[in-house]
Amino acid sequence: MIQSVRPATRLAGTVRLPGDKSISHRYALLAAIAQGTSELRHFASSQDCRSTLDCLRGLGVSVFEQGETVIIEGRGLRGLTPPERILDARNSGTTIRLLSGILAGQPFEASITGDESLSRRPMGRILHPLRLMGASVECRDGELPPVKIHGGRLKGVRYSLPVASAQVKSCILLAGLYADSSSQVEEKIPTRDHTEIALRLFGARIHRSADWIGVEPDPVLHAQSLDIPGDLSGAAFFLTAAALVPDSTIRLNGVGLNRTRRELLDYLQAAGLDIAVENEREDAGERRGDLQVRHSPALLRSALPPIHGRLVPALIDEIPILAILGSQVAGGLEISDAQELRIKESDRIAALAANLHAMGAEAQEKPDGLRISGRQRLSGADIATRGDHRIAMAFAVAALGAQGETRIHQAECADVSFPGFYEALQAAQETGSRA
Ligand code: S3P
Repeated sequence: MIQSVRPATRLAGTVRLPGDKSISHRYALLAAIAQGTSELRHFASSQDCRSTLDCLRGLGVSVFEQGETVIIEGRGLRGLTPPERILDARNSGTTIRLLSGILAGQPFEASITGDESLSRRPMGRILHPLRLMGASVECRDGELPPVKIHGGRLKGVRYSLPVASAQVKSCILLAGLYADSSSQVEEKIPTRDHTEIALRLFGARIHRSADWIGVEPDPVLHAQSLDIPGDLSGAAFFLTAAALVPDSTIRLNGVGLNRTRRELLDYLQAAGLDIAVENEREDAGERRGDLQVRHSPALLRSALPPIHGRLVPALIDEIPILAILGSQVAGGLEISDAQELRIKESDRIAALAANLHAMGAEAQEKPDGLRISGRQRLSGADIATRGDHRIAMAFAVAALGAQGETRIHQAECADVSFPGFYEALQAAQETGSRA
């Protein structure tokens, strides 16, 4: 599908976000291996989280969907059943990597595959620690999906993460539930900690000392009744849209504000964007609050702080949309240490550079990032999304500030994390033009 996006004069209104994708995956996986029936409200409508639910069904778990509420009948830590066919994670790296951790502890063989994009993404980062734990795991050409796992009783491991990755950390912690002794993972650079919070919530014993996170094996996990906050990574597109389009005011309620994810807010506020956080609260260990963002002309006259080092994992999913903002602020934006972007749903460094060029902006591709010139006049263009949801949404937002029509190709890939994204953008444009 080709989505046409036209320039906007003003955005306004309240945008309803899907449930947080990272949290939804984790709650679903833990609910499946807990005892009892879990109720997960405002569960992510994203295709990625549907993939997790379908994989769980393939492992004998009863999953019922009633609108945004998902009911999961847990089978206990050792109650999953051998799948009759290959499990399909489709586009979802989180599904394949986290589920592999659980499958490594099951006394049967299972394989997980994915779509064309996922089939190009490296799995060596989980194979290595899972093998150290004693699982038998194989991949195509050494480290590409499908992942074939023959699990069983695992050994506890002490493992220092070679890349800052919440997916790899989570895979090991989940496998650690099935080990013969405690397991520890070291992360020198912090990544999102939803797995640790969720494991504790469902009843696992998790401890932290300096950079090491430990998990004790063989817990009894208990079903939970939980409300999932709105997805901050989805909110990022609307925060940035308000930053780009003059006179805009957008409200986003119930957004997840976990301390390992909210760097985006600090970053945008430090750059001069007017974001008010209201009604901040904590529920089930996850902070959440309401955001009100107002267009701030001062932001466009400034430079964005460079993104490198520890900022990279803290902003990893937001870099595409921040790159768009970087092309509009006076000082541009420099992104370094971000080679991980090359192995996301697409090579996001190449996709950003190519599409910024298509819109007439200057962006220099580096092996580990981009140098984006500021104050670029964008022209409507044909955007090659490469089937990557965050590239599609980032350039739909860029189109709001461009001259002429932009055509987003394979636009439906936005459903991977944000079904209804273009409708929400259109509604904000209509509300803005009426006000
Ligand atoms: C995620 C972790 C990040 C992120 C992805 C979601 C998660 O991936 O980019 O969208 O839910 O754990 P990495 O672990 O590969 O950095």
